[in-house]
Amino acid sequence: MNQDELKRAVGQAAVDYIKPKLDDNSIVGVGTGSTANCFIDALAEIKHLFDGAVASSEASAERLRSHGIHVYDLNGVPSLDFYIDGADEINDRLEMIKGGGAALTREKIVAAVAKTFICVADESKQVDLLGAFPLPVEVVPMARSHVARELVKLGGDPVYREGVVTDNGGHIIDVHNMRIQSPITLEAEINQITGVITNGLFAQRAADVLLLGTQDGVKTLSQ
Ligand code: 5RP
Repeated sequence: MNQDELKRAVGQAAVDYIKPKLDDNSIVGVGTGSTANCFIDALAEIKHLFDGAVASSEASAERLRSHGIHVYDLNGVPSLDFYIDGADEINDRLEMIKGGGAALTREKIVAAVAKTFICVADESKQVDLLGAFPLPVEVVPMARSHVARELVKLGGDPVYREGVVTDNGGHIIDVHNMRIQSPITLEAEINQITGVITNGLFAQRAADVLLLGTQDGVKTLSQ
């Protein structure tokens, strides 16, 4: 199977995973990116089994609506059973780097509300050590240079993602050359920098379940 087929396989596997637990009142948390898009497309096939969704980006909201799935504002939703999203890297503790699609802040917010975070990923995303993928950091635009200088002090090599404005009006700095030995600590340290909105380490709130697309089929890993 090629990478696109693996993404479709994990998207379908996520639908199969949540389907028995859905009812008329269920609202599903939905992530962002090409793997999340595969999940959305598979989810549309069972849209009669749940009420609606909350999306972590305008792009995902638009795709959900195009399938006839109602998209709720998170502020009106007291709890979510599931959040399903992809990752740029994931380790064996199910800690992740996310934000390749610049949706990290909303992804982290929806993940914080969900009882169960299901990560859907093909096997290219599995790593022993996080950091080969540049770590995205969303910043308030006027703080970009200050945050970049502080990221250098933490050992990183920050690169401004030119031309990208997030759904929140933020800018993205991608931090290269980080070998992230302590993801929970680094996540907190970066978030302490004034001007940072959030960073793409998902370690304080890691995934609960990983549906990993491999050549031997979809493997289910959990904490
Ligand atoms: C977007 C994300 C995505 O989940 C991540 O970039 C993976 O994307 P894809 O499934 O397209 O490889 O964090 O901000």
